Amino acid sequence: MARPVIIDCDPGADDAIALFLAFAFPDQLNVLGITTVAGNVPLALTQTNARKICELTGQQTVPVFAGCSRSLLRPLITAEEVHGKTGLDGIDLPSLIMLLQTEHAVPFLIQRLLSSSEPITLATLGPLTNLAVALIQQPTIARQIQEVVVMGGAVTQGNITPSAEFNLYVDPHAAHVVLSAGLPLTLVTLDVTHQAIATPERMQAIAAINNIVSRAAIGLLKHYGEYDMKRYGTAGAFLHDPCVIAYLLRPELFTTQSTYVEVELTSELTLGRTVVDLWQSTPHPSNAKLVVTIDAEGFFQLLVQALSAY
Ligand code: BDR
Ligand code: CA
Repeated sequence: MARPVIIDCDPGADDAIALFLAFAFPDQLNVLGITTVAGNVPLALTQTNARKICELTGQQTVPVFAGCSRSLLRPLITAEEVHGKTGLDGIDLPSLIMLLQTEHAVPFLIQRLLSSSEPITLATLGPLTNLAVALIQQPTIARQIQEVVVMGGAVTQGNITPSAEFNLYVDPHAAHVVLSAGLPLTLVTLDVTHQAIATPERMQAIAAINNIVSRAAIGLLKHYGEYDMKRYGTAGAFLHDPCVIAYLLRPELFTTQSTYVEVELTSELTLGRTVVDLWQSTPHPSNAKLVVTIDAEGFFQLLVQALSAY
């Protein structure tokens, strides 16, 4: 039976690719809804982009809910402000009628979890504000969560500051709420996602599929890739968020280790930094499963298989 999942995201070029991946395997993932949050771009755009992605992939029946428009305690910082162009203009989509959902993402999360007859998996691809607010408002949702798989944090270097990864830096206080909630948590950090590089050869394989979704993927990754290549000197874009979905679909492509993870909340210099106790050198018990390695080739084969399904 397909695993029920809610995807919380901030599309976002790599978020879009993650959704393409998630929707391609309905026998494995039953996407109950998409909740969006401010992150890569402001909230109004993340919810609009999520609806466009649903339309493009024929998933118009998947409900989309717009959630929190800023972080718990900090002013909003979007990737667009920091990086400039996000690559979203590259999506070649017909115009859509944008209907604003009246229900907010947080009550949707709470009600969907509490009313479910089986535990639900959450895939979080953006700042953790929506989940943190839901946990604060209704802590009993924790027992209805099968697993939370988070794209966020870094064991080594950050990407928005030298020490912090974007999603956790944007809302470190929300990350703290989630990390300390006692949830079955899996963390996919930059150390893993920086291995999922859309190299020219891999881009060629995606281009060769030549359907409406693969063409959209190429359009998205072109501009997004330019930024990564310039900054990191890599051969292509990092596919951060799709790693979370790939982990749900093919956990055997990854290895994990139980660990204790905490997020820095006070130091300005290292705000949002994840401190990962790899050697169990602190007295804290493990609060997360850290994804340690990825089979990058297997990951891209899965992505090509997914895009070919459209
Ligand atoms: C994360 O930040 C965002 O820009 C990406 O969508 C991804 O979720 C990587 O640090
Ligand atoms: Ca994201």
